[in-house]
Amino acid sequence: MIRQTTPIAAATHDKAQQYAQLGERLSQLMHGQTDFIANISNFAALLFNSLPQLNWAGFYLLHGTDLVLGPFQGKPACSLIASGEGVCGQAALKRAAVLVPDVRAFPGHIMCDEASRSEMVLPLLKDGRLVGVLDLDSPDLSRFDAADSEHIQRLLQQLMAGTTVPESRLAPASAPASAPAW
Ligand code: SME
Repeated sequence: MIRQTTPIAAATHDKAQQYAQLGERLSQLMHGQTDFIANISNFAALLFNSLPQLNWAGFYLLHGTDLVLGPFQGKPACSLIASGEGVCGQAALKRAAVLVPDVRAFPGHIMCDEASRSEMVLPLLKDGRLVGVLDLDSPDLSRFDAADSEHIQRLLQQLMAGTTVPESRLAPASAPASAPAW
């Protein structure tokens, strides 16, 4: 059941407080729901509609070694990203956050929306295994900082802790040392 919640105060500039409120909203949205697609869809919509200065928010999900477009908000986007390609492929390969203050200065950046100027991609992990990435785009240069990255990674942990992920969506539990990070 989705409950009515209080709107996040537009005037508040306290990032930690804003993200704490997002955590509460997420908890309400996930109440009684563990379905993977339902929960990541609401997560993308929650961020897109709550965080200022975003023009795209969504997931790319691991299929073999590729990333395939998942639930998102924003303009239609490229549906397939090969291993290591673009910001998303790099974040998946490294299993680490990639912050791009100016997308035009990132070699290999894949432009899906001409309006995008900066980008942040975070790995989506379940019990340490890669599931995909969360991609956030902004029309502003340098929109994302380390605090955004840390807060949103905590929200992703909250999301995954309450979500059942089918085995077929998880990267192999043990990959050979020579293989890509997933
Ligand atoms: N810019 C991304 C591609 C996805 S879109 O931004 C939605 C990248 O370079 O991986």
